[in-house]
Amino acid sequence: MGFLSPLCVLVFFLGIEVHCQYESYQWDDDYEQEVDDVYQPEFPFRQNVDYGVPFHQPMSGCASECSCPLNFPSSMYCDNRKLRTIPNIPAYIQQVYLQFNEIEAVTSDSFVNATHLKEINLNHNKIKSQKIDHGVFAKLSNLLQLHLQHNNLEEFPTLLPKSLERILLGYNEISRVQTNAVDALVNLTMLDLCYNQIDDSTLQGRIFAKMENLMQLNLCNNRLESMPPGLPSSLMYLSLENNSISSIPEKYFNGLPKLHALRMSHNKLQDIPYNIFNLSNLIELNVGHNKLKQAFYIPRNLEHLYLENNEIENLNVTVMCPTVDLLYYHHLTYIRVDQNKLKEPVSSYIFLCFPHLHSIYYGEQRSADGQTIQLKTQVYRRFPDDSESEDHDDHHEGPGEEEIEENIDPHYYGSQEWQETI
Ligand SMILES: *[C@@H]1O[C@H](CO)[C@@H](O)[C@H](O)[C@H]1NC(C)=O
Ligand SMILES: *[C@@H]1O[C@H](CO)[C@@H](O)[C@H](O)[C@H]1NC(C)=O
Ligand SMILES: *[C@@H]1O[C@H](CO)[C@@H](O)[C@H](O)[C@H]1NC(C)=O
Ligand SMILES: *[C@@H]1O[C@H](CO)[C@@H](O)[C@H](O)[C@H]1NC(C)=O
Ligand SMILES: *[C@@H]1O[C@H](CO)[C@@H](O)[C@H](O)[C@H]1NC(C)=O
Repeated sequence: MGFLSPLCVLVFFLGIEVHCQYESYQWDDDYEQEVDDVYQPEFPFRQNVDYGVPFHQPMSGCASECSCPLNFPSSMYCDNRKLRTIPNIPAYIQQVYLQFNEIEAVTSDSFVNATHLKEINLNHNKIKSQKIDHGVFAKLSNLLQLHLQHNNLEEFPTLLPKSLERILLGYNEISRVQTNAVDALVNLTMLDLCYNQIDDSTLQGRIFAKMENLMQLNLCNNRLESMPPGLPSSLMYLSLENNSISSIPEKYFNGLPKLHALRMSHNKLQDIPYNIFNLSNLIELNVGHNKLKQAFYIPRNLEHLYLENNEIENLNVTVMCPTVDLLYYHHLTYIRVDQNKLKEPVSSYIFLCFPHLHSIYYGEQRSADGQTIQLKTQVYRRFPDDSESEDHDDHHEGPGEEEIEENIDPHYYGSQEWQETI
């Protein structure tokens, strides 16, 4: 028996028709590749730099604390200078970079002439909500992008210009929103509110409803106990990781037909309607680190499914895929299901239902008596000529705990680009 791996023995006794072709799955490699392929173009970081603007005459008025490089004549760089106040911003400036300073207040004086501003970066300062002058941003009718991450805001900023397309407010202490302050943001496509103190009462005013062009909403690492109410139907990316959401109302997603990616890891989901995620555009679904006991219906376009760290004992393929339609194949390529309570690999029928499925990552499974079982990743060599899969033959180490945990790298969120937050 020495030549048989324990897993093969297990498989043998369970009488399951699975060939003992196991090899380590390079989680990170694969993850990176596919994610980039899918998401690269979605949310490129735009600096709003007008490279084409010709430089006719030397501009005067650059604040003495800052620098205004000749090759970017519409930008003023004031970052990393231990500034305590915002310098006066000349009228011709379109981008002002004020991040990494000790600024405590946003004063109207500094912005009085700066009506051409398109982007303001005030990340990593010490700004409190009361120290933002009333209506200071309101007259900046060209403003597209406002960065206020890593400050001390307690409230969603008020009286913002309607032109805004992206607002980044992560890493503050926001727990209040004045409902009338945000209802005019019709051009907003991206709103980041991760790492704040938002709870259900903060969102009672349904502040997102009128953001009719909103595509990406980040509410991760807050204190929500229910799904956020009144989301606009334009939404494509919704990030709700690390809240305390325990259920999803039956018809919640009916108003969100465009949803492409839903991230709900690290919540308290337990019983959810079995077809709740039947969304025709959903490509990525992450419900890892919840309390789910059962599988659910897998929509046809879903490609990546994350179920790790739940309470699933049996991944019921009939529930995931009630019918096999040979004309309309499901697109699922990857399932991560480690740290559940599976006792055996999933029925191989799953590969019939999901013909694009190339890997199920089982990792370690927990059993009732606290023991762990190692169900290694199955690799079905469906495409023997695929040179990419041959490349992985060099690696025979299973992914260690650390590598797997990289998925919840606390810093992943920093860069704001959706593809990097996956
Ligand atoms: C704003 O522009 C006016 C007129 O050009 C000028 O007199 C004033 O000093 C400017 N104020 C600031 C704060 O730059
Ligand atoms: C919103 O965006 C559209 C299209 O880019 C633009 O024409 C319109 O002026 C913008 N609205 C505001 C209030 O800036
Ligand atoms: C979730 O949020 C809590 C604080 O509310 C924090 O301590 C914890 O590290 C977060 N977990 C993850 C995975 O981000
Ligand atoms: C999923 O939604 C489609 C319509 O979008 C519907 O035809 C189908 O019956 C639904 N499937 C389940 C299992 O709810
Ligand atoms: C899977 O789900 C179907 C439909 O709910 C049920 O009839 C069947 O018994 C389940 N199979 C297992 C192995 O639990």
